[in-house]
Amino acid sequence: MERGLKYVIKGMKPLKGEIEVKGAKNAVLPALACCLLARGEYQFKNVPRVRDVFCMLRILEHLGGKYFFKGSELFVDTSHVSRVDIPYELASKIRASILFLGALTASTGEAIVPLPGGCAIGKRPVNFHERGLKKLSAEITLDHGNLIAKASKLKGGEIILDFPSVTATENLLMAASLAEGETKIKNAAKEPEVIFLAKMLKKMGAEIKGAGEDTILIKGKKHLKPVKMEIISDRIEAGTFLILSALFPENEIIIRNFPWEFLEYPLLKFREMGGTIEKFDKNTVKAKRSKNLYPLEIQTAPYPGFPTDLQPIFAVLLTQAQGLSTIRENLFENRFLYAMELNRLGADILIEEKTAFIKGPTPLTGSPVRATDLRAGAALVLAGLLAENTTVLYQAELVERGYEDLPGRINALGGEIKVEDELQLINRE
Ligand code: EPU
Repeated sequence: MERGLKYVIKGMKPLKGEIEVKGAKNAVLPALACCLLARGEYQFKNVPRVRDVFCMLRILEHLGGKYFFKGSELFVDTSHVSRVDIPYELASKIRASILFLGALTASTGEAIVPLPGGCAIGKRPVNFHERGLKKLSAEITLDHGNLIAKASKLKGGEIILDFPSVTATENLLMAASLAEGETKIKNAAKEPEVIFLAKMLKKMGAEIKGAGEDTILIKGKKHLKPVKMEIISDRIEAGTFLILSALFPENEIIIRNFPWEFLEYPLLKFREMGGTIEKFDKNTVKAKRSKNLYPLEIQTAPYPGFPTDLQPIFAVLLTQAQGLSTIRENLFENRFLYAMELNRLGADILIEEKTAFIKGPTPLTGSPVRATDLRAGAALVLAGLLAENTTVLYQAELVERGYEDLPGRINALGGEIKVEDELQLINRE
């Protein structure tokens, strides 16, 4: 038994007002590992205060780094980093801890990083990270569940990823930036967070071409320098607010800092469903839905395809569409755990292998449900808002891994979510 959180959600309340998208957690996590590549003081603006960010910061602190927040501004100092080992207790909490493998090996010649293991959404192996670093001349062994990397000097090389993995591309970008000579990463991930990391590395002094394309070219440097960066907006949080806006036709929500350019495909699907989106200025939008919603066919894919992180969120609204929708999940084998929970609220979702069949429209009614992972948790918050009566979301602390004060921000729009601390059985990631 451990202390956890539960959200008590009163549904059926139309929402009105303004909400602002915070900085992208998945851009901050690699940026924090990147602070090891050049020892010194870094400054980041627009940092979300979420549990995953604090977990990465605790790892940095263990290594000898220091940090403090001033509002959403984060100051990191890596001048006195002296350790190369990541403790299991922290690594097992956050899979992004694998990002320290590339950064530590490149900057100190050594890294001891516990295998992050499987998690609720799937097996999520790290073989691409390992194989890529070996191509850069690191020696990697496995000892009692720890990946041990050694390299007196990393050397550039040519890497072809089997799949455009986001964190593998990020790990290799960091390692290659301090490697001797030139590195080519083929079949690289093209996510905006990868491009952001490449921008940070370039500002630090690395030579990088092709970030956001299939092949990235990196010319390693002997030394890099610390930098100041502003974190890009979180496209997954923005997508969550898009669906929040469309829960009821009466909702009137203005979304600020909306990263329009990162959401082309999800917006296409949103419109296909019967959603409209009005743009006020570059990053301010108002999304609405028509009374009748149309069913969708969605297939998740690496960027610029439909993001796996948004499929549980869209599924909530699809329970209200007139007809049969399908979602095919192509990235993670266990990303439909939320469907069982939505069915408890009255949804009609059938899972067959990689596909969810969602029959709508089904009215939802409050009941106890459980967050199985971060995005499943956010989806269930939306479902609770849509449902009649009260929904109690257990293991709600998982939502706080990636959303800063979601209940508070939704309550400011007229929602009613109470956060309660309680003793419960925790199913960890
Ligand atoms: N894969 C391998 N071997 C590897 C690495 C990946 O087989 O060495 C497979 C995975 O099992 C998966 C596919 O490749 O089937 C893609 O996974 P990827 O490596 O791209 O995922 P990730 O880097 O571990 C990041 C995000 C996830 C997001 C995915 C997909 C971060 C810190 N995490 O994970 O975000 O779902 O990309 O876009 O950037 C979240 O924010 O809730 C979250 C889970």
